[in-house]
Amino acid sequence: MKTKLGPHNALYPMPTVLVGAMVNGKPNFITIAHLGIMDLGTISISVNQQHYSCVGIKESKAFSLNIPSTDMVTEVDYCGIVSGERMDKASLFDVFIGDDSGAPMISKCPVNMECELLKTFDFHEHDVYIGKIVQTHCDESILENGTIVPSKLDPILFFMDDRSYHGLGGKLASAWKIGEKLIDA
Ligand SMILES: Cc1cc2nc3c(=O)[nH]c(=O)nc-3n(C[C@H](O)[C@H](O)[C@H](O)COP(=O)(O)O)c2cc1C
Repeated sequence: MKTKLGPHNALYPMPTVLVGAMVNGKPNFITIAHLGIMDLGTISISVNQQHYSCVGIKESKAFSLNIPSTDMVTEVDYCGIVSGERMDKASLFDVFIGDDSGAPMISKCPVNMECELLKTFDFHEHDVYIGKIVQTHCDESILENGTIVPSKLDPILFFMDDRSYHGLGGKLASAWKIGEKLIDA
């Protein structure tokens, strides 16, 4: 027996990343769950056109995808609650700059992908940025025989229906909530 949910987007849970870009000459990071794989070397991110990050991605024509582990859930939520226009979110992290793109990346995230902006689609209120992966940095500690081990990567999965974060093993925290801890920290 099935129940009709109407036109409900049921693709969640989605892996959630911190997208880095240089905005007005400074690193900024934004939480993004609306990610896509165009082909093996090409990804997409969908970013609301009002977000501060858009200015930097379009100007520098580069961005990074930083994959956080579950121990970064509070920082991930915070970067999805506050704007880089008002707060220096990059000060939370040890940041390094990619040689291949100039995009800022977060050392603590076990995987960082540098992307070159290939195309931008104007889609309703969102910009869909298509990025070519030009370099991927990976902590050796999550590799076995040169391959990423998912349980060691320990990614954060975002579930929209009840706005919650999950690990590969279960719920971690409430989204748009746990990061509030860092607002007045
Ligand atoms: C779990 C989570 C996922 C999010 N995913 C997206 C997304 O895919 N696209 C988007 O435009 N905003 C998304 N946001 C909202 C932005 O991260 C948020 O508005 C951020 O503060 C914008 O930062 P900026 O102004 O520094 O660019 C998400 C927020 C959270 C908490």
